[in-house]
Amino acid sequence: MSNTIESHLIETRVFKPSDGFAQRALIPSLDQYRELYQQSIQDPDGFWSKQATELLLWRKKWDTVLKWEAPFAQWFVGGKLNVSENCLDRHLNGPRRNKAAIIWEGEPGEVRTLTYQQLHREVCKFANVLKRNRVQKGDRIIIYMPMCPEAAIAMLACARIGAVHSVVFGGFSSEAIKDRLNDSQAKLVITADGGYRRGAIVPLKKNVDEALKDNTLVERVIVFRRANNEIAITEGRDVWWHREMEYVDPQCEPEALDSEDPLYILYTSGSTGKPKGILHTTGGYLLGVTITSKYIFDLHEDDLYWCSADIGWVTGHSYVVYGPLSNGATTFMYEGAPNWPELDRFWKLIEKYAITVFYTAPTAIRAFIRWGDSYPKGHDLSSLRLLGTVGEPINPEAWIWYHTVIGGGRCPIVDTWWQTETGGIMITPLPGAIPTKPGSATLPFFGVDAAVVDETGKEVPPNVGGKLIIRRPWPSMLRTIWGDEARYEKQYWSDFPGYYFTGDGARRDEDGYFWIVGRIDDVLNVAGHRLGTSEIESALVSHPSVAEAAVVGRPDELKGQAVVAFVTLKQGTTALPELRDQLRQHVATMIGAIARPDDVRFAEALPKTRSGKIMRRLLKEIAAGGKVTGDTTTLEDLNVLAALRGSDE
Ligand code: WT7
Repeated sequence: MSNTIESHLIETRVFKPSDGFAQRALIPSLDQYRELYQQSIQDPDGFWSKQATELLLWRKKWDTVLKWEAPFAQWFVGGKLNVSENCLDRHLNGPRRNKAAIIWEGEPGEVRTLTYQQLHREVCKFANVLKRNRVQKGDRIIIYMPMCPEAAIAMLACARIGAVHSVVFGGFSSEAIKDRLNDSQAKLVITADGGYRRGAIVPLKKNVDEALKDNTLVERVIVFRRANNEIAITEGRDVWWHREMEYVDPQCEPEALDSEDPLYILYTSGSTGKPKGILHTTGGYLLGVTITSKYIFDLHEDDLYWCSADIGWVTGHSYVVYGPLSNGATTFMYEGAPNWPELDRFWKLIEKYAITVFYTAPTAIRAFIRWGDSYPKGHDLSSLRLLGTVGEPINPEAWIWYHTVIGGGRCPIVDTWWQTETGGIMITPLPGAIPTKPGSATLPFFGVDAAVVDETGKEVPPNVGGKLIIRRPWPSMLRTIWGDEARYEKQYWSDFPGYYFTGDGARRDEDGYFWIVGRIDDVLNVAGHRLGTSEIESALVSHPSVAEAAVVGRPDELKGQAVVAFVTLKQGTTALPELRDQLRQHVATMIGAIARPDDVRFAEALPKTRSGKIMRRLLKEIAAGGKVTGDTTTLEDLNVLAALRGSDE
C-alpha cells in the first residue's frame, strides 16, 4: 500500500493580478519573482547579505551570513543591531517622523494615534521604567495585555534594552500564565487592570494575581490602567504604569545587541502536550519579518494596514508590530471582538479609517459568511486594495466569498502559509506577481526551499500528497525550544535529518503551487486511501447550506477509518434529515465515493482553540462515541463541547 496522501479535489480557477495592481506593485511580474527567487536559492549568502544591508540598520556589520551546524543556525554572526531602533529611531530623520505608526480603536470606541515620534518617546520612557525596575539584558518578561498600543510599547521597550519578552494571549487563564512563568523563569510581568471583550471586562490583573500565588521569582508587576475596573494591589510588588512613567526621562539609547541575542519566546498553543517555548532571535528574525511584510503586503507609504491578529499570537508579533513598524508603515490595532456591538464592527472600521490592506484568518472569514452578506454590504469597503489570510487552509468557497464580497472582486488575496516556528511567511503569493488559485498558498517566498516528500524523504511527483519540509535554514527560523534542545531536535529535525519537518501535509500541482492539507495527524486512512481532512471539509463548505465543517476519522473495522463530518449551517438554514444525504452525495460528487462521509452531524458550533483552530482531537473522541478525556484548557468555549456531546447521547 502506498503511503502517499491522495488528492482529489482539484481547483481550476486562476486569478491573475490586475494590470492596475501589478503596475504599482513592488514586485510587478512573475518573471521578477522568479529571478529573485533563483538568486535567493543559488546564492543565499549574497541574497541575504544584500537584503540585510538594504532593509535594516546595523550598528556593526556581520562577519558571516550563516553558520549552520544542523539543526542549529546562526544568522549574521558578529553583527550588532537593535530591533526597536530599526522600528522607530530610523524613521525619525525624515517625513515619517510625524506619520502615524499606530492607529488604535478600543472596543468601546476610543481612538488614539501615535506618530513615530510619539511612539518612540513612549518606548524610550517605558524602557527606562523597566531599567528602573531592575530589568537587565537577557531577563524574561511576561506581557499579558489587551490589544492596545501599550502592548506594542512594552514589546518594543523590552527589545530596546535586550530583555526577552514572552507575550501571553489575554484570553488565556491564570493556569496558562503560570506554566509560562515557570518555564521562562520570568522576573517581571506587564499587565493591565482589564481589557474589553464583547462589552465585558476581562480581569487581566486578577488572573495575574492568581498565577502569582506561589511564585517566588516575580519581583514586579507593572499595571497599565485600561478598563478602570477595581483591582488588588500587592504592596512592594505591583506598580502602576502611569506612575512609573512620571519618574523617567524620555532618552534611552538602544542597546547594540548581538544578531543572535534572543528577542522573544512565544509559547505555541499546541492542542496536546506541554507548551513549547519557541525562541526567536534578533537579526534574522527582523530581516525575515521586514522583507515579507514589505513584498507580500506590498507596503506603500500611504497604506493603512490592518492585521486583525492578537499580539498574543506570532501573527501579532510579526505582522502587527515588528514587520510593519520596521518598514515605517502605519499599523492599525483594534482591541475587541468582530461582533461587538454589532456583527459589522470590522467593516465599520475598514470604512471609517479607509483601511487599504486587511489580513485575517479563515476562521474569521467563515464566521463572517455565517453572519451573512448584509453586514459587509452595508459599508463602503472601496479603500481596500489587498487582502490576506493565515492560520489554516482556506476553503476555496470561503476564498471566493472573501474575494467577491469583501474585496469587491478587485483585491488580490495573499494566502500565507507559515508557523510560529518559521517566524515569518514562507509560502505565499506576491500580490502583483503570482496568479492565485483559491485554496493554494502558491509559491515559496525568497530563500525558502520547500518540498513535498514521501516517508523516505524523496520528493513526490506533482499532485501526489506527502509531507511538507524545508530543506535549508532561513533567517527568521526558530533557534530552539526554550530550555529543551533535545525536544527541538526531535520535533523538527529527526524525521528527515538535515531538513526541517513542518508537521503539515501538502501536495504541489503541475505549476509547482503548494496546496497545504493541514497537520499530518489530521490525515485519514480510509480503506487504504490516505485522505486529507481539509479537502473533504472544503467540499462540504462548497455546498450552499454549509458554513463550516470539520472532518475526523472514527475507527472502523472494515475500512480502517470511517469519515465523520461535523457541520454547522448558514444562518437561516434548517438541519433537515434529507440534507444529511445531500451532503454525503455532494462530497462523493466533488471528490469521489471514497471520501463520502459515513456520518454527518449537525452542530451549532465547533470546538476551537483561542486562535480559532478546530480541535479535531476532541471531535475524534466524540465521533468514536467515547468521553472527552484529553486536555480542554485551550478550548475557547466549553459549552460547545457540551452541546456536541448532548447531540451524541
Ligand atoms: C500551522 C501553524 C502562522 C501564524 C498562525 C498560525 C496552519 C497556517 C496556513 C495556510 C494552510 C496554514 C498549518 C501550520 N497554517 N497558515 N495559509 N494554509 N495551513 O501559527 O499556530 O504556529 O500554526 O497553521 O497547519 O503548520 P501556528
